[in-house]
Amino acid sequence: MAKIAVLGYGTVGSGVVEVLSTNHDSISKRVGQEIEVKSVLDIRDFPDDPIQEKIVHNIDDIINDSEIDVVVEVMGGVEPAFTFVKKALEAGKSVCTSNKALVAAHGPQLLAMAKERKLNFMFEASVGGGIPIIRPLNQSLTADEIINITGILNGTTNYILTKMSNEGSDYEVVLKEAQDLGYAERNPEADVEGFDACRKIAILTSLAYGSTVHFEEIYTEGISNITTQDFKYAQKLGYVVKLLATSYKKDGKVYAMTAPFMIESSHPLYNVNDVLNGIYVNGNVLGNVMFFGAGAGKLPTASAVVSDVVDCVKHKGTNVMTVWSNKELELGNTEDEVRSFFVRVKGSLDDLTKIKENFGNVKTVTVDGIEGEFGFVTEEMTEKEFAEAAKNIPMISRIRIDKTVFS
Ligand code: HSE
Repeated sequence: MAKIAVLGYGTVGSGVVEVLSTNHDSISKRVGQEIEVKSVLDIRDFPDDPIQEKIVHNIDDIINDSEIDVVVEVMGGVEPAFTFVKKALEAGKSVCTSNKALVAAHGPQLLAMAKERKLNFMFEASVGGGIPIIRPLNQSLTADEIINITGILNGTTNYILTKMSNEGSDYEVVLKEAQDLGYAERNPEADVEGFDACRKIAILTSLAYGSTVHFEEIYTEGISNITTQDFKYAQKLGYVVKLLATSYKKDGKVYAMTAPFMIESSHPLYNVNDVLNGIYVNGNVLGNVMFFGAGAGKLPTASAVVSDVVDCVKHKGTNVMTVWSNKELELGNTEDEVRSFFVRVKGSLDDLTKIKENFGNVKTVTVDGIEGEFGFVTEEMTEKEFAEAAKNIPMISRIRIDKTVFS
């Protein structure tokens, strides 16, 4: 019998307990022994839930319990999670977490601590919810040089964008729905401003290249400025708007960004809708591979956490190597990135001369019912060239167009 503790009895924590109970028999068979949740740390009490008999309020009750081999950290946020995870590793316990803020901020240090002690620090659920992506990057794609990782990595914003696009729903209403469904972060700003997706692409990029990408260095835009008019233009062009988190290697440099992009129907992420996430990976020998599934939510995320628990129990006394050093990976300059842009500009199609002077050939688009402005799509240009040209026109907004996955 392997005994574990769960830190945090929120959406994911209760999901972990539920998954271990629902699939008790099949999990026991795969591990070769039973897994029992011995303690659950939470500041709250749950008098109407049988979990109450396992609730503890002091982390030391878990740290000092020599029967507990694995600690599941699903509290979210960097502190006190970081302190608790360090304590657990120092006490000889492996740790599994769904906490991308913790992993993005301290991943290499916690991996090193685990390695020194022949323990494991695992974080499958920190990216892509229930989708296996960390383990594939660490263990399955090891023959490849990774060229491109482009993903829809935030379920909440994908849910919002899908509902706004398909149903014309109001942003605030859909955000509330996503929160009620347990998809959103405690502070929804982390979702809608792109910070959550940015941390996830920082983790994936760090794993792909084995050194640290600081999420603060990744250019990030959220979806809060996307409007219903943008969706109408996108529809007319045959595009959809998605929040993409992307990193790719070009001429020896790694570029990374999180931002809303327009993508066309042949793009592999075009049909990734609702709370689903999709992660496209291109390897130099493998070619393309796609990971697709539930990117958030109680049971999918818990499924990924429990898969880590299984791995930790099976590898007791052995560190499963994850290459992610403290060495910093210097990112290429965003200004040098090359792509097309969709632009909304004040005026009418009669005003094209100025546009062409600054952007060269463009494809124009108008939408019935949207007056006093029009849209156009540029040819490929650098971000720097775009920014310079945009200064000379009455631009309303712009959305990047992603085609990197085809190049
Ligand atoms: N808030 C996150 C999302 C949860 O919506 O994707 C899963 O990381």
